Amino acid sequence: MQLWIPNKPRLCRYKSVKTAGKLSQAVAAETPSASGLQHVAVIMDGNGRWAQMRGRPRLFGHHAGARRVSEILRACPPNGVKYLTIFAFSTENWKRTQVEVSGLMKLFQGYITKEARALRDEGVRVRFIGDRVRLNPKLVELMDNLEQMTSCNDLVHLTIALNYGGRDEVARATKRLAQDVASGKLDPEKVDEETLPKYLDTYVLPDPDLVIRTSGEARISNFLLWQSAYAEYEFIDTLWPDFTAEEFGTLTAKYGKRDRRFGAVNV
Ligand code: IPE
Ligand code: IPE
Ligand code: MG
Repeated sequence: MQLWIPNKPRLCRYKSVKTAGKLSQAVAAETPSASGLQHVAVIMDGNGRWAQMRGRPRLFGHHAGARRVSEILRACPPNGVKYLTIFAFSTENWKRTQVEVSGLMKLFQGYITKEARALRDEGVRVRFIGDRVRLNPKLVELMDNLEQMTSCNDLVHLTIALNYGGRDEVARATKRLAQDVASGKLDPEKVDEETLPKYLDTYVLPDPDLVIRTSGEARISNFLLWQSAYAEYEFIDTLWPDFTAEEFGTLTAKYGKRDRRFGAVNV
């Protein structure tokens, strides 16, 4: 079966990863989680309120929020987390003011430009999920380059959801699936819950085991709807710019104490 491949082919132009970075030093401390936790997804919420509490514009909070990402990335290997997926901009976030939306787009461009080398050298493999069509071509080029230049890394897989919506993703996947059915590549009788996720943006990723949302809101706001069917959820009051590696460690440890039954009965 021919599947839609969103990423460019994997060309390992950068053969070796430098080992000087702090995250690479964490390799020694990389502990596969005994609880089976490997993928944490985070709804990074509360940047605006964090800024407002300080009498500053909302974008001040978004900049502070972007700075938290490296600390949480570094906390992944020692907590056994191989995959970190972060919600940076939703398909609904276009409803915000033009000032906030364009400030966020600039922030994403600046973040990629500034962090690209460090991410590559620290062993982070970066991927983006979401619909790129509505994004500025310059930003899309930076995203493509970052995916390409980190494509040989395997220490931590960072996936950034940008112009991402779970419903939009399922709709786009269904469109491609329907095209494959129409062209005869896919037998409609073969469509099942193994087939459909192969058309999702996340097709190479395992499903998230744990979804964390900061800022006290107890909703998922269209994030990873299909993939989180059996995830554990943590809704915590901390605003994203205040979220620390220590709190991340506490939540991952708490995950290990959950009884995950997947519909069965544990005896
Ligand atoms: C999350 O913080 C970041 C984005 C949605 C881009 P918010 O901007 O939603 O912050 P609050 O929820 O208004 O405090
Ligand atoms: C969800 O946060 C999206 C991101 C974190 C990028 P929002 O702040 O946009 O969600 P709602 O509006 O409170 O549901
Ligand atoms: Mg919010």
